[in-house]
Amino acid sequence: AMIGKGGHRHFMAKEIFEQPQVIGDTLNAMFNPTERTITLPPLPFDPAAVPRITMIACGTASLAGMVGKYWLEQHAGIPVDWDLASEFRYRAPVMTEGGLAVFISQSGETADTLAALRYCKQKGQHCLAIVNSPESTIAREAHAVLPTLAGPEIGVASTKAFTTQLVVLACLTIALARARGTMDRATEARLSGALTEVPSRAAEVLNHDERIREIAQETFTPARDVLYLGRGTSYPLALEGALKLKEISYIHAEGYAAGEMKHGPIALIDETVPVVVIAPSDELFEKTASNVQEVVARGGKAVVFSDAAGVERLKHLALEAIALPAVDPFVAPILYAIPVQQLAYHTAVDKGTDVDQPRNLAKAVTVE
Ligand code: G6P
Repeated sequence: AMIGKGGHRHFMAKEIFEQPQVIGDTLNAMFNPTERTITLPPLPFDPAAVPRITMIACGTASLAGMVGKYWLEQHAGIPVDWDLASEFRYRAPVMTEGGLAVFISQSGETADTLAALRYCKQKGQHCLAIVNSPESTIAREAHAVLPTLAGPEIGVASTKAFTTQLVVLACLTIALARARGTMDRATEARLSGALTEVPSRAAEVLNHDERIREIAQETFTPARDVLYLGRGTSYPLALEGALKLKEISYIHAEGYAAGEMKHGPIALIDETVPVVVIAPSDELFEKTASNVQEVVARGGKAVVFSDAAGVERLKHLALEAIALPAVDPFVAPILYAIPVQQLAYHTAVDKGTDVDQPRNLAKAVTVE
């Protein structure tokens, strides 16, 4: 069937606005509302018994995997390696016997990710695919699949596939943490409760669309370079924000761990370089806030995504701050992905680029 734009100007906008729905759909497939627990579908191996996890993907999917690494290590206490498929497949990686390899892919057809899957099968790993296309090669060749229920994604720049990948990884984290006894019942209830609130919080985030459009036009369209900063699970989000902006607006952007700013990017900061800071109120907030201060002190144009408490804390500084709904820090990366997508989208629209089909890029990279 023909897929329309549902009244939106671009598929990307439609797909951004579908997120409350598809995040909910993906979660509901694994969430038991009566027990208030997460249940994974039956798998042909015990994922909680593995000594080590290797997370492998390309592009935006790899950044979902990086968030997954932070989550799984923190909550389930499993060591997680993370790799880009194109590096992994050629660097003779050492695999731990009986390990779990997780492949994340919207299309399920990315050549490097598929080659990495075949390598891991040969090395005796349990291979789990998180894919959006159930009929794809990666879905067929993996030992097990956890589907993202994002529906068809047409825009080349991934949006709803990314947030639903995060939902699956969050569920995997909770399920493994419970099975391994690294998370008590109260924490499990809190984290799964926070997940069930994401669809409605995501709908609230979409209300900031007009404000983000104004910021995009005023501050980002004229920029030549943009820096994105974040710590903890907001670090992969900073990388994703920079990737999204580059892909569709053709503005040079770099994502950096906020704590690394002093080791290089601080040299670039002046009044012409907007700095996007992803800073939900979590235990790292104060650290990031001091980086924001350093940006402002150098005349940088800081644009901060935080919540009401974070915005209040930064209000004495000359910066642009957007207060998103307050959520449990665990689910913040799912929610904060959305304004980052909106910012890239509106900048690209304002620049007049081909948002859904950016130059030189393909939806699925099926040849190396
Ligand atoms: C291409 C797309 C990206 C995507 C990446 C990985 O670069 O333009 O949006 O993140 O491939 O694709 P996959 O289908 O494996 O998630």
